[in-house]
Amino acid sequence: MSEVAFLQLLSLGVVGVGIVILLFIRALFVRVVGFVVIVLAMFTLIGLGVPQMPSLPPAVEQFDLAKIKTPTAIAAIGQKIFFSKGQCSLCHSIGPRAGARCPDLKGIGAKLTREFLFESLTDPQAYISLDYRHEGLPKQYPARMPYIHRNPIALTKGEILTVIAFLQQMSGEPVSIKVQELMDASEAVEVASVSPSAS
Ligand code: HEC
Repeated sequence: MSEVAFLQLLSLGVVGVGIVILLFIRALFVRVVGFVVIVLAMFTLIGLGVPQMPSLPPAVEQFDLAKIKTPTAIAAIGQKIFFSKGQCSLCHSIGPRAGARCPDLKGIGAKLTREFLFESLTDPQAYISLDYRHEGLPKQYPARMPYIHRNPIALTKGEILTVIAFLQQMSGEPVSIKVQELMDASEAVEVASVSPSAS
């Protein structure tokens, strides 16, 4: 018997006891206690009847590196991470978006080398790109690019490489990330400014 079913049975029993008290006992105080017990047990029953909805963390998708063979497949994983765990799409658009407060990443994979992209993600303060989308002097974006390899986003090096592959592909560039590099990538990026080729 499940825990909920057991508690429901128990509450039903308590309601029964309360009813027996009301039917057979004359003493006023005991009758009041019986009534209160019935009301409380009824509440418990209703509460237990509400469907239990455990709040589970979102399902984690595991990628089997052995099954990834093509650059397109790497970029496809990067695309998923861009829109989910990487949280990039919270700030960045791909293509102009009204009211966008962060750089539009359309074509970024063609503008920046993969080393520069890697640095943009893991050492975002090294070079701050400014907002030129308005009249007058360029100014800083109101938001800050987070360190993607640190909490709370904390992408692993392999995940960062797949995101770079996605940025390259959606910019019409050849994907320069190789499957072998994903396999070699250690779990986390230790130092902020390691370039992918140096480690
Ligand atoms: C909290 C908002 C925010 C999030 C989340 C975010 N970024 Fe950024 N990003 C920015 C801002 C602001 C800048 C511009 C300032 C700078 O260069 O540091 C920027 C700059 C960049 C640049 C350099 C753009 C250029 O023109 O030089 C790249 C590339 C980039 N982000 C990619 C990403 C990717 C990929 C992700 C997800 C893994 C991501 N960002 C997540 C806010 C964000």
